[in-house]
Amino acid sequence: MKKEIRNLAGDLKKLISAGSEEDFMIPAKPARADAAAAVSAEPVLQPAPPQITKPQTAAPATATEPAESYTLESIAKQILSCQRCALGATRIKAVPGEGNPKARLMFIGEGPGYEEDRQGRPFVGKAGQLLDKIIAAMGFKREEVFIANMVKCHPMIDPQDPEKRGNDRAPVPDEIALCRGYVERQINAVGPDYIVALGGVAAKSLIRDAKSLSAIRGKIYDLELSSVQLAKPVKILATYHPAALLRNPGWKKDTWADLKILLADMGRTPPSAV
Ligand code: URA
Ligand code: URA
Repeated sequence: MKKEIRNLAGDLKKLISAGSEEDFMIPAKPARADAAAAVSAEPVLQPAPPQITKPQTAAPATATEPAESYTLESIAKQILSCQRCALGATRIKAVPGEGNPKARLMFIGEGPGYEEDRQGRPFVGKAGQLLDKIIAAMGFKREEVFIANMVKCHPMIDPQDPEKRGNDRAPVPDEIALCRGYVERQINAVGPDYIVALGGVAAKSLIRDAKSLSAIRGKIYDLELSSVQLAKPVKILATYHPAALLRNPGWKKDTWADLKILLADMGRTPPSAV
């Protein structure tokens, strides 16, 4: 474990050192998606009102809700007892998310893994340790940002074998659709200025013209929600998932380049990269 952390720290050093001055030569105006085009390409997603707790029930197509009718606490409470999809039956703990309730910056991952399922907290396993380093390299403390996932319960390849390591899978579209009301409400409750979508699942779910992560990462988009009205404008940028970086360390350089585009838009210089 110590060794892993040392390796991560070493990896991060490389990640940081990849952030040389020339990497800071970011175009003054990062490419911005045409919001109208993004909306027109949006698939019709069913809204997911969290008060519905019947398992496996498709959400009724209601109008979008006004923005102010929920708090982080009320959302978390609904998540902890949610049985909207089959993941509710196999989870140990639901993982609503955590962090600064007034965060300017929010990170959204895919879904809980083995460790998160046991602790009820997001990004506390190996990928989470790398995310912590990334957050620090960006000049933030973990407690300063808000961290959540597209789905709140652990998707397993084999739900019959919950103790098996490496039993994680990506959430399927139905699971994401049934859960997305939660993360959308969390976005409104926190009201961040910026979101980082970590990996293809969050990126393709939250950025509507997304065909693949590689097509959209490193660009700033205006966020659009589908189940609730967006309370205030939020910008979103997608990059690689930290778990993908553990498998493909060569992508760290690209991740850092993506994140520097966000930091430049935020008017921040990452302290560790100068
Ligand atoms: N991967 C994710 O996408 N989310 C977590 O919380 C942990 C690992
Ligand atoms: N790498 C990822 O993490 N996700 C993708 O969708 C593509 C590349």
